[in-house]
Amino acid sequence: MPEAGSREEGRGPAGGYGAAEPRRSGRRGPSVVLGVSAGIAAYKACELLRLLTESGHHVRVVPTGEALRFVGEPTWAALSGNPVATGVWDSVHEVPHVRIGQGADLVVVAPATADVLARAACGLADDLLTNTLLTARCPVVFAPAMHTEMWEHPATRANVATLRRRGAIVIEPAVGRLTGADTGRGRLPDPGEIFEVCRRVLSGRRADLTGLRLVVSAGGTREAVDPVRFLGNRSSGLQGYALARTAVARGAQVTLVAANVTLPDPAGATLVRVESALELRDAVLEAVKESDAVVMAAAVADFRPAARSGSKIKKSSAEPEPIPLVKNPDILAELGERRREGNAPCPRVIVGFAAETDDVLANGRAKLARKGCDLLVVNQVGEGLAFGTPDNAAVVLGAEGERVEIPRGPKEDLADVVWDLVARRLA
Ligand SMILES: Cc1cc2nc3c(=O)[nH]c(=O)nc-3n(C[C@H](O)[C@H](O)[C@H](O)COP(=O)(O)O)c2cc1C
Repeated sequence: MPEAGSREEGRGPAGGYGAAEPRRSGRRGPSVVLGVSAGIAAYKACELLRLLTESGHHVRVVPTGEALRFVGEPTWAALSGNPVATGVWDSVHEVPHVRIGQGADLVVVAPATADVLARAACGLADDLLTNTLLTARCPVVFAPAMHTEMWEHPATRANVATLRRRGAIVIEPAVGRLTGADTGRGRLPDPGEIFEVCRRVLSGRRADLTGLRLVVSAGGTREAVDPVRFLGNRSSGLQGYALARTAVARGAQVTLVAANVTLPDPAGATLVRVESALELRDAVLEAVKESDAVVMAAAVADFRPAARSGSKIKKSSAEPEPIPLVKNPDILAELGERRREGNAPCPRVIVGFAAETDDVLANGRAKLARKGCDLLVVNQVGEGLAFGTPDNAAVVLGAEGERVEIPRGPKEDLADVVWDLVARRLA
């Protein structure tokens, strides 16, 4: 029996969430139970339901009785094409309080109220949803949404920790507008991003990164020339966002430092937005203080203008003025150095990315030796390669001489291989 709170327990103990391999009926798409509890964000679950049904999932919606105050039973029944019940006393001959959970490939509760998290953590079985949560042996995803005070309350923190220890994936809520005029952490992430987590979990990946705190940098920095112009690069942030998304789906707590990315926020990652290399450095050094691993996927400018003009540079002079540049700090090398010196909190595993156009592997090896990181993901960039594309190919070089080839495929697949290598080093 694993110790309470150990990562072993987090992987899904016998009888806990995700204890069984994802089940496939073969006859139709995966069976998903969509639990909906009584948060103001219940209406957003309609969009999640649509995304699930339109991608071939068979969805049974199990709202709480209170949730029906926000969105009514006919909406769930019509959108899912399935009967909807909140209690255990409907269609008793079909034993729904047991069968719905037993037959599910995935249970996702979105939004999950403070109340439903508490009931699930305590193992209560006072409605159809909590019965389903007790009988399900498939992966379970909770997407909490509530006011910041409720989310930060020690009772909710303890309930979330309990659910995570049992193998459930509890997605961190987003920061933004809450009920009424207030803002803060507690907002339900974008339904499309919750759907991505569900898709990843259904793909068979276990919550094997549960308990790990990971930092990812993504996007490309911008170095201001004047209030209008900047020196930038072509990084879209797709690879870094794929790293964040896959880590969340595998149960990790992720801080994503994003430089000028316009993609939807990945569900569950704590997002820190930055613009320049100096801002990215500060954000990464702050985030890594309490982390197990960092993956630096952002394209960080090597140089910045020595001075930023306070007003727009005019083209009045006949010849353009040169823009003197100064070197930016080398964040990856700094992380490696901090760890070597051991006088600042530093993650156990440091991963860098190297975008190269020529002599890709030779340059990658030289960079790995220079930076003092554990793994370097080397990819060739250029016209139609890596930047802004949904797929990528790379070679991962390890400090001890390992070399792992990742063939061209979705950036999520590459991300999974990187996390596999990180997890192996952390184990
Ligand atoms: C307008 C309104 C909005 C609410 N929004 C939330 C919410 O976002 N998150 C939450 O945890 N509770 C929220 N609550 C409180 C829950 O509805 C309440 O705790 C309820 O008992 C939860 O029931 P359930 O967990 O069985 O669905 C809200 C209540 C009201 C009246």
